[in-house]
Amino acid sequence: MKVCVVGTGYVGLTTGVSLAFLGHEVTCVDHDQAKVDMLRGGRCPIYEPGMEDLLAEAARNLTFTTSYEDAVPGADVVFVAVQTPSAADGSPDLRYLRSAAESVAQALNHDFTVVVNKSTVPIGSGNWVDAILRDSFATREDRPEGVEFAVASNPEFLREGNAIADTLYPDRIVIGSDNPRSLEVLNRLYRPIINQTFTAPTFLPRPEDANAVPLVSTDLASAELIKYAANAFLALKISYANEIGQLAAKVGADITEVARGMGLDQRIGSRFLQPGVGWGGSCFGKDTKALIATAAEYNLEMPIVKAARDVNSRQRAIAVERLQDELRILKGRKIGLLGLAFKPNTDDLRDAPALDIANSLLARGARVKLHDPVATERFRKEQPDLAPYLSETIDDVFADCDAVVLVTEWAQYLELDWSKFVGLMRSPILLDGRHVLDADRMRRLGYRYVAVSG
Ligand code: UGA
Repeated sequence: MKVCVVGTGYVGLTTGVSLAFLGHEVTCVDHDQAKVDMLRGGRCPIYEPGMEDLLAEAARNLTFTTSYEDAVPGADVVFVAVQTPSAADGSPDLRYLRSAAESVAQALNHDFTVVVNKSTVPIGSGNWVDAILRDSFATREDRPEGVEFAVASNPEFLREGNAIADTLYPDRIVIGSDNPRSLEVLNRLYRPIINQTFTAPTFLPRPEDANAVPLVSTDLASAELIKYAANAFLALKISYANEIGQLAAKVGADITEVARGMGLDQRIGSRFLQPGVGWGGSCFGKDTKALIATAAEYNLEMPIVKAARDVNSRQRAIAVERLQDELRILKGRKIGLLGLAFKPNTDDLRDAPALDIANSLLARGARVKLHDPVATERFRKEQPDLAPYLSETIDDVFADCDAVVLVTEWAQYLELDWSKFVGLMRSPILLDGRHVLDADRMRRLGYRYVAVSG
């Protein structure tokens, strides 16, 4: 099938490259010429494991352009995957979505095109995009005859760092539209994934337990809500583990064991119960905020979602309190932070716990040393105020340090020869911000091991 993808961020690029890999003819459009040039050269503008390999495997079916005129005409499906940043009041800023929808409408010329909202948009945006498309299409003097289109929602559930696996081997596919023909088109588009009939990429074999993928085919509003409901649930699952973690610390229980004991109940499930400094990234914070904002439009409170957010910010504050408990005085102390990205395998720094922790330590008069194996280049650009505190080497982070915090559990840190560094520190306090290090081993090596809950 012929596919156009508007926007080559995480979501757009993964969607476009994956669909091209499956054999569809895909054109990706982005207004950023530099990005388009990079992609044409087979290079990936985002840090995502496997993306350049998939780009190479899918190249014959992929085109990149800055022009809607090159991308939209003839497309059976147009995915709109532009950014929807948070506005000041928490509601998503839909300017880019509006402008993308207007540009798409100016170029539509196929007998039937499904325009899919792939960005995470507030509930009701499908109707809104539909109205924009129709208004913009009506202004065209060259308006072709016999052109029909309909809007659908197809939320994505990919995780940064796992984007390709989450797209090719998903837990489910959700499509929503009030137009039955759109649902048929999307069903056809995703058949190779639903039935798992494609040949797996060489670098990402099909998991042994991969089965046919369930398809949830529903109305527009339900598909839109599924995305928010799922993200908010994952966010509150983590916050719940963190809230229990604080109680565990008080009563002398081990939160890792408590989470394991809970998670083995299949009704609960073990994933997303990992305690620590909490969630960050571009999704959970923004989506929980947007869910609360949408509910407020209906005069409805979302106390559970609000609590999940509060607990999450409290975890960051608690990390700093733990350091204060250990060091008594933070002023003048040198504290190393390992890991800046909001989670491993990405260079994304949006709402990263490390930023809050570093700023809070600086505000209390401490000195910080910051390290990340991948995100430093982006950090320099996006965080100019914190950039002077970056360390090139891990030795430099530990040297003369009063405490080191493991903020992001990069494999590189877990595999460190920890015995090498303890001797470099002024005082060997090690705060495990993710509950991933072996406490007994660290203590044997001479560290004073402390965890966020415990
Ligand atoms: C999240 C969802 O997991 C995806 O399904 C969704 O598609 C995506 O948002 C989105 O809306 O675009 P992502 O933000 O990439 O994906 O990252 P996650 O792997 O979900 O991690 C989010 C945060 O939670 C990270 O900071 C991570 O460190 C933290 N986390 C995760 C925990 O603190 N504990 C856990 O047990 C799991």
